[in-house]
Amino acid sequence: MSTPLAPVLSAHWDDPNAWTLESYLSRDGYGALRKALRMDPDEVIQTVKDAGLRGRGGAGFPTGLKWGFIPQGPGPDGVTAPHYLVVNADESEPGTCKDIPLMLATPHTLVEGVIIAAYAIRANTAFIYLRGEVVPVLRRLRAAVDQAYATGLLGRDILGSGFDLELIVHVGAGAYICGEETALLDSLEGRRGQPRLRPPFPAVAGLYACPTVVNNVESIASVPAIIANGTDWFRSMGSEKSPGFTLYSLSGHVARPGQYEAPLGITLRELLDYAGGVRAGHRIKFWTPGGSSTPLFTDEHLDVPLDYEGVAAAGSMLGTKALQIFDETTCVVRAVLRWTEFYAHESCGKCTPCREGTYWLVQLMRRVENGEGVAADLEKLLDVSDSVLGKSFCALGDGAASPIMSSLKYFREEYAAHLDGAGCPFDPARATAWAEAGEVR
Ligand SMILES: Cc1cc2nc3c(=O)[nH]c(=O)nc-3n(C[C@H](O)[C@H](O)[C@H](O)COP(=O)(O)O)c2cc1C
Ligand code: SF4
Repeated sequence: MSTPLAPVLSAHWDDPNAWTLESYLSRDGYGALRKALRMDPDEVIQTVKDAGLRGRGGAGFPTGLKWGFIPQGPGPDGVTAPHYLVVNADESEPGTCKDIPLMLATPHTLVEGVIIAAYAIRANTAFIYLRGEVVPVLRRLRAAVDQAYATGLLGRDILGSGFDLELIVHVGAGAYICGEETALLDSLEGRRGQPRLRPPFPAVAGLYACPTVVNNVESIASVPAIIANGTDWFRSMGSEKSPGFTLYSLSGHVARPGQYEAPLGITLRELLDYAGGVRAGHRIKFWTPGGSSTPLFTDEHLDVPLDYEGVAAAGSMLGTKALQIFDETTCVVRAVLRWTEFYAHESCGKCTPCREGTYWLVQLMRRVENGEGVAADLEKLLDVSDSVLGKSFCALGDGAASPIMSSLKYFREEYAAHLDGAGCPFDPARATAWAEAGEVR
């Protein structure tokens, strides 16, 4: 029997005016907040810990555990530093497209989650750091925040509880690296967004050197449902170590691309059944389980359980659950070249392995794709990837190396078919014409 879908966050996306406060209140919106405000903050943290919610921003770190790291009470100097909650709404990983539809369709789910999370970690100021390009989302979010202020859900003495919270929607300037949590904090402080050395971790010295929780949009938006329905309900979905529901984003060569919310551990084969399969007349060739930064999978991996442990055991990462599907008409070298160009462009330049490595990876990938490569270039690609993977300052470097190394593992023959003047076997005319036109940078 196939795993049923589990629409929770996406359950009301198609309702008329789903984004308004009226619509949200009509489906018991902010009911979880009322419940949370009657609980002790530590009890809220314990509930999220017991639920086993894992961060949906990529690494799968347990959310309640992260909240529990925030030091409480005065420091050694007798002063209690302010605490901050920062929601990571930068969503820029290629293929990842879950937080933006969530904020567009039901922004109050996120606002309610923010208030509960801030209450739990005893923060009186929270930020949503939004990717700057998504202006319609910005409008919706700001309207939701304004509505929440106007109805006593934000500001001073929220719902008569004595808890105060200011929520600021901050707009980023469109850099992928600003999704990395410490680069995000630098950017929020008005600096150039570059990752910080850790330790200290943000829980100890984050925004303005104060204890800070940084969480993904989907992580925070999942909290109201957990508070409202309880940990047993949440744990009735998914697996022991990866409990609950999550948003899987299917894109590419699939009949019905979109968001499919399901228990963790569903397989791509099952999701493809819901999504109408690979586009008519074609078959799957390769796919990403968690965005372009995660090692590729092939048709051998259709039955891998899409939870943190299952994907890791099969040699990749669940990441952002961005399932990009490519059929047999796609040149894997060309697809990987596109991603490599993205990483080189977005490399912040702070560390040498990534700054230099991504540049050289692009040069090598272009040579191969354009038929100018030789056999030794494939070894060089692996060698340069190896000097980037695990040796860079932040995970962007790993993300740049992963598609190259995994595609060479599964499709080495296809790389080889490009070499020694052969050009791209999928479209040799295009490759030649581009080279002649000087369009190959
Ligand atoms: C280059 C890079 C980009 C990232 N972009 C995002 C992003 O857009 N959104 C996000 O939530 N996490 C992103 N992350 C992960 C964050 O650093 C961090 O782990 C996450 O926000 C923590 O939230 P969570 O515990 O709720 O998953 C990125 C990491 C890296 C290395
Ligand atoms: S790995 Fe890349 S993005 Fe990360 S710090 Fe180094 S240069 Fe910057």
